[in-house]
Amino acid sequence: MIGIFDSGLGGLTALKEIHALTPGENLIYFGDTGRVPYGTRSVETIIRYAKQDAAFLLSKGVDAIVVACGTVSTTALPELRKTLPVPVIGVVEPAAEAAVAATKNKKIAVIGTTATVRSGAFERAIHALDEGIEIVTQDCPLFVPLVENGFLDGEIPRLSCEFYLKKIRESGADTLILGCTHYPLIADCIRRALPGVTMINTGAEAARHLVKTVGRREGCGEVRYFVSDDPALFAASASLFLGEDLRGRAEKIVIENY
Ligand code: DGL
Repeated sequence: MIGIFDSGLGGLTALKEIHALTPGENLIYFGDTGRVPYGTRSVETIIRYAKQDAAFLLSKGVDAIVVACGTVSTTALPELRKTLPVPVIGVVEPAAEAAVAATKNKKIAVIGTTATVRSGAFERAIHALDEGIEIVTQDCPLFVPLVENGFLDGEIPRLSCEFYLKKIRESGADTLILGCTHYPLIADCIRRALPGVTMINTGAEAARHLVKTVGRREGCGEVRYFVSDDPALFAASASLFLGEDLRGRAEKIVIENY
């Protein structure tokens, strides 16, 4: 059984891909909806939250954990790997590999939360693969609240994309890492602001990496959802994204107890 966590809805981009690649695998998802966003918080707080999220998943008996959150992957992964008794898959290396393989003009842009951009983790991972690649980064702190509040399309996300992505467009980068797992939910708006750019979905790349690591396993394909705030709010947005009715299927937990 695989555990997947994020601060909210974003990790569903990884869950969706894992479920498609290995439908028999049992999955447990935790969205820390009571404490989202993570990306504007200090390193210490992100590490503390991430350890509690992982402890909850371990209490359910998972044998691998996907950190389906760019912020935690870039800020807390070494700490989690040091302390957890199961394999921990993050989103940075798989996305860096995909971006390096995709770029033709050797210019890669990375967008993410403020914590992710501050960490420099994507730059390190890309340059470990190819030192000659030019990298441009931009934090987009409004994107996560937009997604969590259901603003997936229309005027407000469009203006936010224009505002945050101007520098990326001017850089001429041909490949863009969506360094936050929430961003694929507003991919249409991002694509319109950056026409012709190849987008790398970090959650989906991590999912492919996971399946390569643990293989395809036959379980009953059960998927369970847990959140730290109102399950009905989560279910409404998650149902839209997954194209499946999740009403009544998400359970609330007290994450501070882990
Ligand atoms: N999905 C998380 C990420 O990938 C969102 C972070 C946040 O809560 O700010 O970074």
